[in-house]
Amino acid sequence: MAKKEKILKENEQVESNHREVSQSDFPPSFVFGVATSAYQIEGACKEGGRGASIWDAFSHTEGKILDGSNGDIAVDHYHRYKEDIELIAKLGFTAYRFSISWSRIFPDGLGTKVNEEGITFYNNIIDALLEKGIQPYVTLYHWDLPLHLHESMGGWVNKEIVKYFGIYADTCFASFGDRVKKWITINEPMQTAVNGYDIGIFAPGRCQQSSTEPYLAAHHQILAHATAFSIYRSKYKDKQGGQVGLSVDCEWAEANSDRIEDKSAAARRVDFQLGWYLHPIYYGDYPEVMRKKLGDQLPEFTQEDKDLLRNTLDFIGLNHYTSRFIAHEVNSLVEGNYYQAQEMERIVEFEDGEIIGEKAASEWLYVVPWGIRKALNYIAQTYNNPIIYVTENGMDDEEDDTSPLHEMLDDKMRVKYYKRYLAAVSQAIKDGADVRGYFAWSLLDNFEWAQGYTKRFGLIYVDYKNGLTRHPKSSAYWFLRFLKGSEGKKGKEE
Ligand code: BGC
Repeated sequence: MAKKEKILKENEQVESNHREVSQSDFPPSFVFGVATSAYQIEGACKEGGRGASIWDAFSHTEGKILDGSNGDIAVDHYHRYKEDIELIAKLGFTAYRFSISWSRIFPDGLGTKVNEEGITFYNNIIDALLEKGIQPYVTLYHWDLPLHLHESMGGWVNKEIVKYFGIYADTCFASFGDRVKKWITINEPMQTAVNGYDIGIFAPGRCQQSSTEPYLAAHHQILAHATAFSIYRSKYKDKQGGQVGLSVDCEWAEANSDRIEDKSAAARRVDFQLGWYLHPIYYGDYPEVMRKKLGDQLPEFTQEDKDLLRNTLDFIGLNHYTSRFIAHEVNSLVEGNYYQAQEMERIVEFEDGEIIGEKAASEWLYVVPWGIRKALNYIAQTYNNPIIYVTENGMDDEEDDTSPLHEMLDDKMRVKYYKRYLAAVSQAIKDGADVRGYFAWSLLDNFEWAQGYTKRFGLIYVDYKNGLTRHPKSSAYWFLRFLKGSEGKKGKEE
């Protein structure tokens, strides 16, 4: 059967337009939330005793950010958090995933002196959320390493960082854990390893030692996760009763054909994304195919490391946006040691030339709802049916300062994206995956890393030219109806 027919057949329910997704497609306790991260929204980079992070230095380096911008002010969430939390509540979300800026807690990262103003800021956020009945899901590390840790010791490539991350995590558990019951240690360690230490398009912008540094950065993030988990388990779990997970990212890899080479290239691609982080935790070591392809570029886990890693996930966070067809390709032209080692090509077209899904604004983001169902089922099958939260899912529009505001707010494509991706998540649950919650990325338009403010992922539009005012988009109103239970009844079409 041709590739296209096969995919369509497999995904009839997801692709069908006859029925709209509704809350009743999910278990009653399913959590719907919205997500952000500190550097992308907070701003106030020199206020409240905050120390510099690697993203401050990187964004201020010429040529690194597409529009020459930075997160100095971002969308000023630091001063407007009350208004933003009010919006989350009005839209009907009952969970909010945000990250703590490490350098607001320990300005130099070293863990010697806690910055009380930083603690107060996050206390205020947590309290404001709980007052509105919104559960905080807190990420400890969303890419903004204290700059001093990078400059003084090389950041993630130095094993010492594991100790400092442990001290930071311990401080957060002690300060906020009476109210925070869901923790995510690290967000997308792969992006830090590959974009930060191999290709260099993210902070700290390293690309000088591509054959070793990405793998060291990954290795130490895995150990940092396990260290934080074990601190929680031994010191806080009994008292606080929370759960600790890790958010990994995966672009689903569908074999480009039934040829055995393409099938194993697709399997390899998933191992290089999810397996890189999850295999050590579940099976004590990196996936065999990574060890074979990378040889001694991959650091080794000692027996002590392996003991530390065992059983250190209460749940898996999956960040998922898009999918690709994967073909075997030895002389792949893709940049970076990590991509070349995978010996594969990422393809966006079916055999008839039609693209895999509608393209969003970012060059990497195609709308492929069936991919999330496959990624969730893969995790369920490969890692013993763990508890999963979709900790990010969403799409972006291009910044456009010529169109009138009302046009920018009518984000029909995003509404369609969420409907179809949510339908696919509900299918995965029916297939047997233990998915407990879903977080839309993102609450607000924000600083989209190397793309600056040129891409808008928000449910809420931020008017950069008019005082950073917030305006809910159609997708925000769609969620409001969905969450109040008035969406999706009787096959209603948008
Ligand atoms: C990151 C977010 C980012 C989003 C869209 C994820 O990889 O966790 O910080 O904004 O993708 O690129």
